[in-house]
Parts: sequence; structure tokens; C-alpha cells
Amino acid sequence: MIATYDADCDVQSREAEESKAIRVLAASPTIIANFDRLRRGLDVVRPSQDDSVATSFLRMLNDEEPGQATTKALDVCLILHADHGINASTFATMVAIGTESDMYSAITAAIGTLRGPLHGGANERVMRMLQEIDGLDAVEDFVLGRLSRKEKVPGFGHRVYKAIDPRATYLKTFAESIATETGNLELFKMSRKIEEVMEGQVGAKGIHPNVDFYSASTYFSMGMAIDLFTPIFAMSRNAGWAAHALERLEDNRLIRPRCQYTGPHGANYVPPADR
Ligand SMILES: CC(C)(COP(=O)(O)OP(=O)(O)OC[C@H]1O[C@@H](n2cnc3c(N)ncnc32)[C@H](O)[C@@H]1OP(=O)(O)O)[C@@H](O)C(=O)NCCC(=O)NCCS
Repeated sequence: MIATYDADCDVQSREAEESKAIRVLAASPTIIANFDRLRRGLDVVRPSQDDSVATSFLRMLNDEEPGQATTKALDVCLILHADHGINASTFATMVAIGTESDMYSAITAAIGTLRGPLHGGANERVMRMLQEIDGLDAVEDFVLGRLSRKEKVPGFGHRVYKAIDPRATYLKTFAESIATETGNLELFKMSRKIEEVMEGQVGAKGIHPNVDFYSASTYFSMGMAIDLFTPIFAMSRNAGWAAHALERLEDNRLIRPRCQYTGPHGANYVPPADR
């Protein structure tokens, strides 16, 4: 959408791609916050020029001056989510920009990849799981039930970390203070209990909380709608996607993996009607 407003969308140069990235970074908080306002029947609030992204975003979302603790927590969340090596969505960005497509298309590929429940979409699932559990006393049976049915528990496990995700350790402290401040301590206690039960059941396998686990209750306590969690993740990760895309352009080569065919050889073509 932002691309359609950019007359330089098809210009291919380092400067043009960088300015596209800046437009995406600058416009995303406004788009996300005002999308939420409009669907609540509220007026659009314009972004502020002189504040941090966190402050401006919260002000647009709620049309009031955000509290210091909430602003600080969101700021930290955005920093922690901004980049994380060659994760799935960053890899998608690199594949797309590697075809000499443009920054807007590359970030669009990344967003589509981020929303998957095995990646950034997990934070929304964590929150829906917390809402599904009938209070603190029901946590243990809920988790054990899921594990016995071989269902994964969202917000746990990581493709790279086999110890606790360091971002989760940090987020946990915020989740607790925000939950206390906003009267959502029960949610935090339930999260801690899930972590405790999971640790006993699958901790030895290297399954620990990841970044999505405590960011879920943190965003919820801040009053954000659950379906904004992954867009807020994207709002931050734009920076990482853009940085990797720009770096790739400095020494680009088309990314083209190969696959190994394991089907039959020498098969004859059979027209669909005769199959
Ligand atoms: C992130 C994730 C995709 C990593 O996958 P992976 O490295 O391929 O891990 P595997 O699927 O090989 O899992 C290894 C074992 O741990 C189990 N496991 C992995 N994540 C689990 C979870 N969240 N809950 C319960 N068990 C889990 C698997 O079932 C598997 O068990 P098995 O060896 O008995 O078959 C995976 O942990 C997951 O789906 N997590 C939930 C979604 C999530 O939070 N994603 C955000 C990541 S930042």
C-alpha cells in the first residue's frame, strides 16, 4: 500500500531502497494504530514528530498521554523484536530482495512469513491459550492435556535456542511489572505456572519460553487487541528486515536452493481424463 504512494517505487538504487525502508518504518505505527482506531469507530490520530516510536504509537492508539512504565516496556519490546539473525521472515526478505525486487515487496514477503503460528503469529496464540484456561488452578491439567495429545504449547521452543530465549528472560520482568500495574497479575501468575509445568515436562528436551511467551501478556496488559500483537512485532522487525535486505544488495546473488527428486523415473504422461 505504501508503495503505491511512492513515485520512486521502481527506482533501483541503494538510496531509493533505504528511503523505502524509512517510509515503511515511519508509516507502520500510524497504519496499525489507526487501523485499530477506525475499526473501533474512533477518529484518526496523527503521529507525533518528536517522540519515540513507542510513545507516538501508544498516543495514537489511545489518544491520551501514555504512562511512563508502559512506554518504557513497549520501547524495550520493540528493541528486543527488531532483529534476530536469519529467522524465517528475514530469510523471506532476503530471498525476495535477492531477485532485485524492491524493499516494499521484500517486506511484504516477510510479513506473510511472520504471521505463521510457528513464527511471530505465536504471540497471539499464547494469549488465546491464556484466555482459554479457566484460572490458575486449571493451568497444570491444561498443559498436561495438551502435551498428552502431542499438541505444542505456543510460546515455547525455538529453532536455535535450546536454553531459555534471553529475550524471554528480560521480557518476563516487564510482564510482571506491567501486569501488577494494570491489575492483570492473574495472567502473569498463569504464565509463570505454564512455564513451571513445561519446565518439568519438556525442559530437558530444550523446550523453554521464547520471545512470544511473555510479550503476549505484556501487550495484553497494555490494553492492546490480541490481533495487533503480530503487527506490532512486524512494526519493530521492519528494521531488521530492511537492514538485512540492504546488506544483501551490497553483494547480492540470487538465492536458489535445489531439491532432490525422489519420485519415479521414466513415467509416461497420462491425460487427466484417463487417470
Ligand atoms: C519454534 C519451533 C517451531 C521450533 O521447532 P523445532 O526446532 O523444529 O523443534 P521440534 O519440532 O523439532 O521439537 C523438538 C521436540 O520438542 C517438542 N516441542 C517443540 N516445541 C514445543 C512446544 N512449543 N510445546 C510442546 N512441545 C514442543 C516437539 O514436539 C518435539 O518433540 P519430540 O522430539 O518428542 O517429537 C517449535 O518449538 C514450535 O512450534 N513452538 C511453538 C510455536 C512458537 O512459539 N513459535 C515462536 C518461535 S520464536
